[in-house]
Amino acid sequence: MSKNNFIEEMRDFSNSLKTKLVKRLIIYDEVSSTNVEGKKLVKAGAEEGTVILARSQKKGRGRFDRIWVSPVGGLYLSIVLRPKQHPKKASLLPLIGALAVSKTINHFGVTSKIKWPNDVRINEKKVAGILVESETDSKEILSIVLGIGVNLNIENEQLPKELRKTTTSLSQELKTTVDYQAFLKDLLLNFGKYYSLFQNGNFEKILIEWRKHSDTLGRKVKILSPSGVIEGTATDIDENGFLIVTNDNYKRKKIFSGDCIYL
Ligand code: BTN
Repeated sequence: MSKNNFIEEMRDFSNSLKTKLVKRLIIYDEVSSTNVEGKKLVKAGAEEGTVILARSQKKGRGRFDRIWVSPVGGLYLSIVLRPKQHPKKASLLPLIGALAVSKTINHFGVTSKIKWPNDVRINEKKVAGILVESETDSKEILSIVLGIGVNLNIENEQLPKELRKTTTSLSQELKTTVDYQAFLKDLLLNFGKYYSLFQNGNFEKILIEWRKHSDTLGRKVKILSPSGVIEGTATDIDENGFLIVTNDNYKRKKIFSGDCIYL
């Protein structure tokens, strides 16, 4: 599909899209990073439901300042949110993003699982990731830019060598091309559904669903967190999405963020 075709097709798509969440869809053929664009729009006062979508990214960004390789064929978007919830609840948003992606992938016929907090994987290989960038003060969440990257129709050879063993795409798993617009529509609808539960304070429903979609709980894990390395069994997530790790002496630790490694 050529550059102009992509933009035109996505414009038609956006006109036919009926979701409560999406208020405005900004479409790029190529952009540095949809999250960076999202943050610029936030500064300019963009409303909740502004979505930035790109066919490819030159400088896709992952968690912990990593690079998110973003060739044509993947799905790259960021959503501007202005939730009316306490700032301590912002840590649930990455989980909601992962849940919406996992649910959508499963609908397309492949079982995906979430590795805490928000890596979506098929057969233990990463297929999607979420990057949430938030601005909060002590009382409220001011803005959120929630970025979603999905390896949709990507060949292994399009990825750098070092990622090929640990990464997959939906098309590789299904052995067929995935309908980009159908996937995007389903994803936005699923995200909208979980986001309204979030806005209504229905956190427990989200947590129940996340637990069902995750393969982290019950596993022996090693967490590389900003405050050090923690090892133990992942026993649960708490009301804010923090991981609870219990060590051999039954001491429980709550972990806010970090890289989770299955042992
Ligand atoms: C991760 O798993 O490390 C998170 C990856 C998030 C990638 C998406 S792609 C769309 C949005 N724009 C970015 O630059 N990053 C996110």
